[in-house]
Amino acid sequence: MSAEKILVTGGAGYIGSHACVELLQAGYDVVVIDNLSNSKPESLVRVAKITGKVLNFVEADICDKQALRDIFSQHKIYAVMHFAGLKAVGESCEQPIKYYQNNVYGTLVLTEVMQQFGVKKIIFSSSATVYGEPNTVKYTEDLPVFGATNPYGKSKAMVEDMLQDLPVADALSKSRDPWKIILLRYFNPIGAHISGLIGEDPNGIPNNLVPYVSQVAVGKLEQLSVFGDDYPTLDGAGVRDYVHVVDLAKGHLNALQALNKITGCKAYNLGAGKGYSVLEIIAAFERITGKSISYKIVERRVGDIAENYADPGLALRELNWQTEKNLDDMVADTWRWQSANPNGYE
Ligand code: NAD
Ligand code: UFG
Repeated sequence: MSAEKILVTGGAGYIGSHACVELLQAGYDVVVIDNLSNSKPESLVRVAKITGKVLNFVEADICDKQALRDIFSQHKIYAVMHFAGLKAVGESCEQPIKYYQNNVYGTLVLTEVMQQFGVKKIIFSSSATVYGEPNTVKYTEDLPVFGATNPYGKSKAMVEDMLQDLPVADALSKSRDPWKIILLRYFNPIGAHISGLIGEDPNGIPNNLVPYVSQVAVGKLEQLSVFGDDYPTLDGAGVRDYVHVVDLAKGHLNALQALNKITGCKAYNLGAGKGYSVLEIIAAFERITGKSISYKIVERRVGDIAENYADPGLALRELNWQTEKNLDDMVADTWRWQSANPNGYE
């Protein structure tokens, strides 16, 4: 029997490339579609180096219906892992149309073509940001998807909403081959593959904490700004649930196996279930890299919340998934990637 073939949208990106490694190592065949708007083809060269396996790469946009049709005509796709999307919160506030076009319309085109070709299994990269600002710090999946504070987050919530309607329509038409959809709500993915060959390669100055800290550690950036030290948290700094990108990638394989067991559309948190503060992250970097991280406390960043972390219980019960790597692994692996590739894939 030939291996199942998975279409990975956005597979050249940070999380997608790690998912490709896990898929290939687990024996799946992989087709990647990526327009390289936020990635370099070198990431896929490195995926091949890590796994010793080849994958099919199509440089195209998911909004390009014909390109998608060509892929589904040429390959018998079993399921889609849908990572392709724009993800910069600040940019989404400045250019909302670009975000809705790419993230929402792109997913519409993708699902339309999937349906035409009878491929009705999809795992979608969602985010904890869809919960908005709930009155709790520990997020369970039954919290309302409501109040995302920026167009990026709203685009994720819109796609979730849209995807939920697909199996409903199947039920109405008594489809014998209904949609099976898993929404994975990531908390804060960090870290890199243990080989140091692939990792996060942000364009320009990073917006997110860990890429910023690691560029300070490697000497590319001078000083980190810590956004606020007066939050009601253990040390006043913001607290987030950091999850190792390889754990996250493995969560997608578990989801793939669970697709047949679920009915309709189901959401799962992927997080460690524990938060760390910005100051704890800085301390871990200093300890593990042996470098001192220069930082200054500045005003809170608009739109930030004080603290959140996942209740990852549902993913454990139904996907048989939990994080295996700890904060030291996350920092050590980030550092291995950053120090071996100070300029990313260039
Ligand atoms: P990334 O930018 O590294 O990867 C996304 C990839 O998709 C890139 O390679 C980009 O070139 C590609 N892409 C974007 N639009 C495309 C289009 N229209 N057609 C084809 N390819 C396209 O980002 P990532 O961190 O790997 O994130 C992957 C997914 O996970 C995204 O959907 C993101 O919103 C989501 N997510 C990320 C985080 C995070 O903190 N990294 C958190 C929650 C959710
Ligand atoms: N932070 C700093 N200095 C920086 C960058 C971040 O102090 O230079 C702090 C933030 O204030 C926050 C923490 O570090 O307390 C983490 O910030 P990130 O920007 O790394 O991550 P966020 O939690 O803000 O955002 C992440 C994803 C978004 C997603 C959001 C909600 O990057 O895509 O989680 O789930 F929308």
